[in-house]
Order: sequence, then C-alpha cells, then structure tokens
Amino acid sequence: MTQTPTLDDIRVDFDAPDNVPKDRIVELSFAMGGVPNDLVDPYEPCGWLSGPDIPRLLFNPPSRQGLGAISGNQRGNWVVTHYEDINRVYTDNEHFSNKGTAEFQRLIGETFPSIPLAIDPPDHSKYRLFLTQFLGPATITRVMEPVIRDVLDEMIGEIAPKGEVDMAWDFARVFPVRIFMGMMGFPKEMFDDFLEWEWNILHSGNLEKMQWALSSVLKFLRGFIAEKEVNPDEFLTSSIVHGTIQGRRFTEDEKIGMVWFLWLGGLDTVAATIAQMYRRMALQPELQRQLREHPELINGAVEEFLRTQPILSSARTATKDFEWHGIQVKKGDSFSCLNPAGNFDPARFKNPREFDPTRTGNRHFTLVGGIHSCLGGHLARRELRILLEKWFQKIPEFRIKPGADTSVFPGLLSIRNLPIVWDVP
Ligand code: HEM
Repeated sequence: MTQTPTLDDIRVDFDAPDNVPKDRIVELSFAMGGVPNDLVDPYEPCGWLSGPDIPRLLFNPPSRQGLGAISGNQRGNWVVTHYEDINRVYTDNEHFSNKGTAEFQRLIGETFPSIPLAIDPPDHSKYRLFLTQFLGPATITRVMEPVIRDVLDEMIGEIAPKGEVDMAWDFARVFPVRIFMGMMGFPKEMFDDFLEWEWNILHSGNLEKMQWALSSVLKFLRGFIAEKEVNPDEFLTSSIVHGTIQGRRFTEDEKIGMVWFLWLGGLDTVAATIAQMYRRMALQPELQRQLREHPELINGAVEEFLRTQPILSSARTATKDFEWHGIQVKKGDSFSCLNPAGNFDPARFKNPREFDPTRTGNRHFTLVGGIHSCLGGHLARRELRILLEKWFQKIPEFRIKPGADTSVFPGLLSIRNLPIVWDVP
C-alpha cells in the first residue's frame, strides 16, 4: 500500500439505524479477512484504523446474507478499532454480552448454546473451571507435550530429507488437527470430513453448504457422545460426557454445547497460524536466522507471530442502552472488535509494525482478553513453540518454492498451499 487511506476512501451509503452517524458508515471487508494480499505483513492494510485520527466507533453494514442470524448483525455492526476500546468490550461484561456469539447451529434451528463461548457470567465460570482441568498449563505439560513432541519428531523427520513440503496443506493443516483429534479421542478417519465440514461452515459463505455441514457434524458429534456414554475412555470427549458440575451430570445440551464448540474452536485455528508464520519466515529469512541462532527468543517470537497474525475478530452485543464516545448505543447493538487494528495500535505498542521477539508486556488480542480468552491458548502456544524448536534443529534455512503463489487472506481462511524448499546436505 503506497498511501495510507482515509475514511473517505471506504465510506458507503447505508440505511443504518438512527443512532448511527452517517459519516461513520464504512465498508471494512478488507479488514476482516475477505480480501487477499501479497504483503509480508498481510494485516498491514487495516492497521491505520487504530490511528489517533480515526473516530472511536465506526459502523459496518452487514456484508453477507445468512450470517446475520449468527452474529446478530442483520442491521450492521459497530466496529471497535482502538486497543483501549477493544479491551473494554472484552472485559466489561456488564455492557457487553457473548450470547449468540458464533452460534452457527442456529442456522439449522438448534437451540443449544456454544459452551463456554456464548455463556455470560455468572454461569460462564462454572463451565470454564470444568474445562480448564483438561486444557490448563499443567495438563498440557503432563499429557499433551509428549504427544506434541512425538508427532513433530515423526512429521519433521519424514520431510527433512525431502528438501520440500507444502507447509500449509501437508503440514500446518495436519499437525495441530492430529493433536486436537487425539486429545478429544475422535477417530482418525474423520480427518477429511471434519476439515470439509469446518471449511463449509466458516468459509463457504453459502447458506446451503453451511446447513449441510452443520447437520453432518452435529449428527456425528451426537453419535460420538452417545458412544462414549457406553464406552468411556481417557480422552476429553469422554471426560465431558461423564463429567459433573455442581454435583450433577451435564445435560445433553451442555454436552453437545461443549464438544461442538471445542470442535469449532480447536480445529483449524492453529493450522492457519502456522501457515502464516512460515510464510512470513520464508519471506523474511533474517527472522529464521535470528530464531535459529537465539532459540531463547522462540517464546517471545510465538507471541509476536500471534500479535501480528490476529486471524479472528470477536463480536459482542450491548446488554443495555448507554452512551459511549458520544454515541447512543442501544441494547442489542452488535459490536465487532477489529483485532487486526487493536494489535497494532500505536498508543499501546511501540513500533507496532515491527516484528520484535524481545517485546515485553505483549498483551495482544489474538486469543482475546477478559473471561473468554482462548481456552486452547496454552495448547496452541505449546504446539507453536515446540514446532519452532524442533524445526530449527532439523531443517536448514527455507524459502518459498520458485513460482509459488504467496498471496494470503489475512484471517482464518488464510493460505491453502505454501510450497517451501530447503537444501538437503
Ligand atoms: C492459534 C490458535 C487459536 C486462536 C487464534 C484462537 C482464538 C480464539 C479467540 C479469538 C477466542 C475468543 C472468541 C470470542 O471471545 O469471541 C477463542 C476462544 C476459545 N478457544 Fe481458541 N483459538 C485458538 C486455538 C484454540 C484451540 C486449539 C482450542 C481447543 C483446544 C480452542 C478453544 C477455545 C475455546 C473453548 C474458547 C472459548 C473460551 C471461553 O469462552 O471461555 N482455541 N479462541
């Protein structure tokens, strides 16, 4: 991008609700992962939205048919782009609710909630407490880390002598999903079906395909839960099925609500992150050199990869009427927090566009903030750290395979193929 755009460049006409000033209505699909680019820093095109001259609340008309039912944005969203404001939305549970967030299941008439994501306090904490025993750092160290190491030894050992891999399709898509499916106890042969269903739900933008995929996955998950009911095992789905909360068994809605949301949240988030991480390192070999020579920077680098690759933005709904930044917010108004703007807010991050593994106090929003901060964050971070550690031990400097397309959707959809090559000694 040669010149920083201004709001005039993205302003649109839209018959918005009365409380929306006309000059705040802007088209933001480019900032929500809908438009691919070929930049080393693919999130750069929306960083300016957190600048000091940008009004604190923007408004984005609804963009895709059918999705309004999920995010509650049939009438459009307020878009929050500054760090301080995003932080408020994530932490102020009195004014902002998660009810209905990412409840794609409503598209086929299902009424169970996504647990714990769509649950507000005080109920949220009881589910969160229950699930944390399986996803907290101690369990990840004891149970998951040995599995992560074994899978990586096998996968990296296999590709190292070949001198090339399609990092997105054959590695990033496979490694975290193998770990996740193993953790949940899902059968390996469901791999392709799972990815196809998830793709249709999150990325197809086609109502019929979404409904087909939703019916398929929920049918499978309910059958799987029923099977674990009679044949318990040591994996997470079974622990949920046989779990208790406040001295009682979970209801059927609670069981499917948890298993479904783990399925949705855990499947391809890490995959998208890895593909983008390797694309950046391939385009910026000095970054590889730095991490190879200083493995002690790997933890900080993982945090920087997360900050600079905010694959998701989160939505919330106003619980009441209130005034904010001169706007009369109405109960039921929908808010979208633009993490790719907040993570680069110059008021919060020094040199925000610089990739700096030594950055301290790196509290970005890629795994959100507040009570709904990503429950899979410990697992995701551990996967990313061990991947980098093992990779640099076994694979020399890599680059993009000549002629390969390096364009990327700056979001969860991300990169389908990323062929990379290295010299085999
Ligand atoms: C780098 C990878 C990941 C990213 C970027 C990511 C991102 C997020 C985000 C943005 C949220 C909050 C959504 C919101 O508040 O609207 C979230 C919540 C959540 N994520 Fe992740 N996630 C990742 C990996 C995972 C994995 C691997 C799992 C499962 C093992 C997982 C399970 C969850 C759960 C259960 C929640 C809901 C937490 C709550 O509501 O208390 N995530 N994640």
